Amino acid sequence: MCGIIGAAGSDGGPDAIDVLFEGLSALEYRGYDSAGVALANSPLEVYKARGELEALRSTVPAAELRGRTTGIGHTRWSTHGPPSDANAHPHTDTDRRVAVVHNGIIENYQSLRDELIGAGVEFASDTDTEVVPHLIASQLDAGAEPEPAFRRAVDRIEGSYAIAAVFEGETGIYGVRNESPLVLGVGEETRYLASDVPAFIAQTDRVVYLEDGEFVHLTGDGVRVTDSSGRPVETSVETVDWDAEDTGKSGYDHYMLKEIHEQPTALRQCLRGRVDELRGEVTLEECSLEDAGRIQFVACGTSYHAALYGAALCRRNGVGATAYIASEYTTDRIPVDEETLVVGVTQSGETADTLRALREAGQAGARTLVVTNTVGSSATRACDETMYIRAGPEVGVAATKTFASQQLALTLLAGELSDSVSYADIKSLRAVPDQIQSVLDTSRARAVAEELVGSDAFFFIGRDLAYPVALEGALKCKEITYEHAEGFAAGELKHGPLALVTADTPVVAVVTGDGSTARKTLSNIKEVEARDAPVVVVTDGQSEAGRYADYVLEVPATDELNVAVVANVQLQLFAYWLANLMGRSIDKPRNLAKSVTVE
Ligand code: F6R
Repeated sequence: MCGIIGAAGSDGGPDAIDVLFEGLSALEYRGYDSAGVALANSPLEVYKARGELEALRSTVPAAELRGRTTGIGHTRWSTHGPPSDANAHPHTDTDRRVAVVHNGIIENYQSLRDELIGAGVEFASDTDTEVVPHLIASQLDAGAEPEPAFRRAVDRIEGSYAIAAVFEGETGIYGVRNESPLVLGVGEETRYLASDVPAFIAQTDRVVYLEDGEFVHLTGDGVRVTDSSGRPVETSVETVDWDAEDTGKSGYDHYMLKEIHEQPTALRQCLRGRVDELRGEVTLEECSLEDAGRIQFVACGTSYHAALYGAALCRRNGVGATAYIASEYTTDRIPVDEETLVVGVTQSGETADTLRALREAGQAGARTLVVTNTVGSSATRACDETMYIRAGPEVGVAATKTFASQQLALTLLAGELSDSVSYADIKSLRAVPDQIQSVLDTSRARAVAEELVGSDAFFFIGRDLAYPVALEGALKCKEITYEHAEGFAAGELKHGPLALVTADTPVVAVVTGDGSTARKTLSNIKEVEARDAPVVVVTDGQSEAGRYADYVLEVPATDELNVAVVANVQLQLFAYWLANLMGRSIDKPRNLAKSVTVE
């Protein structure tokens, strides 16, 4: 959940400090409670500051650092020790011979710390990371050169880590990864290393994805990747098919709003080449799902809501499927066999809870598939098969377009698993991007938010496929407004939550179609109306829902299988405008990080 950037250039190349700041600002979605940089020089120049990147910017004497072409930077989301200048990375050894940035968790740090303290080392921070520069320094003291010192230190640590280090008097960067992302960028004059491609996409679109256990040495002259025994590793350079513009705000006030508006494009990308209308076929060329038995979905947060949605679709198609919260999933409680297909749903592909669940399922003999947005992510390495949702980079911490893309990808998966896709299903899937566009063009969510902002709490209800969407609507609302918001299965209201409903707690109901499910939700709407709660309905106008509502958010009438994907967009916009009216930090909500790489 921290972000790492490194740039190694030659004399006369671009100033590292500019590249580092640009990279850190693209990585702030990974954490933003403190940040720091170290420039390779003699002596090393290290600057750190608590708070968002601007705090670091005002600390760094950028003009004095011109001409330095190699350095590392870090943006932090605290795990060990509170946000503070001292706990910010980079961390150095006592004599400042080496500076280190790290993403992940060093599990055996306490015993290493005790050992180092016993040898007389004084620690300057509460972090697990600080053991690394001190371990490296003890190797330097024993006469090792920088590279073997780095390797031997890494040998001593256990846990998940992406680490980058610069040494006093050296012009390169040393790096390593294990269960935390680290990707290389290959520019003309400068080589980059980062937690994620957006950090250097403005400089180069040529990338190398490192594998767990690989070490790298970057200089202005090139990149050398080696395995844990020091043997050279052949790497392939890939070209990513998006550019800096894709990770900018493109004129929107927030990434979240931009990403909500990108949904039609994202969904078209998700469908591209995978559906054949004429033959009524879904082709998921990248994964073979033959003979899959029972399906278990594992995921967290928004991705868990998508998993609930996917499991419900599978069951409708006659395939037994259950969705589990990944942190609650263990194979001793939830048995698997070789016929079980465990499907991880994870935007980042780096979520520790989901990765652990997938690895455990794989070890217990299940087949594993990950549905992810992130090419080369840890989950793609941990699983037998991968299906990409192809949503493009998502920077806003609150997941939006990736949820819609997960819903659509899981619709394809459920169809492929059951072999039950018809011409009509595919035609209606293809219509979803345009239907979302029409919601984006006509939504009254802003006006409704203006009426309801300041309410005590917000409740969201739905049934069947609209139930996960109600949960997601509430999650979006609480994440970015910091107000109490909860989602319920509409039928559950009367079993307890109704006690919370007052004239100051709007209830947002997702009611589509005009079948028995819609009619039952109408009864639940009447229950809350009788308690004076303001009622917002998200409806396709087929039922009488609009008659009982104080506010209506319309969606086009569409196939009952897809309408929840479209309806969700109204809930995203409603949450966005509430938060906007409240002046909240929308793209970087309080206490949250985009990628949660600890359990
Ligand atoms: C909510 C949100 C989180 C993530 C969750 C899982 O807006 O973004 O709830 O969905 O942390 O993340 P991934 O999908 O990367 O595994």
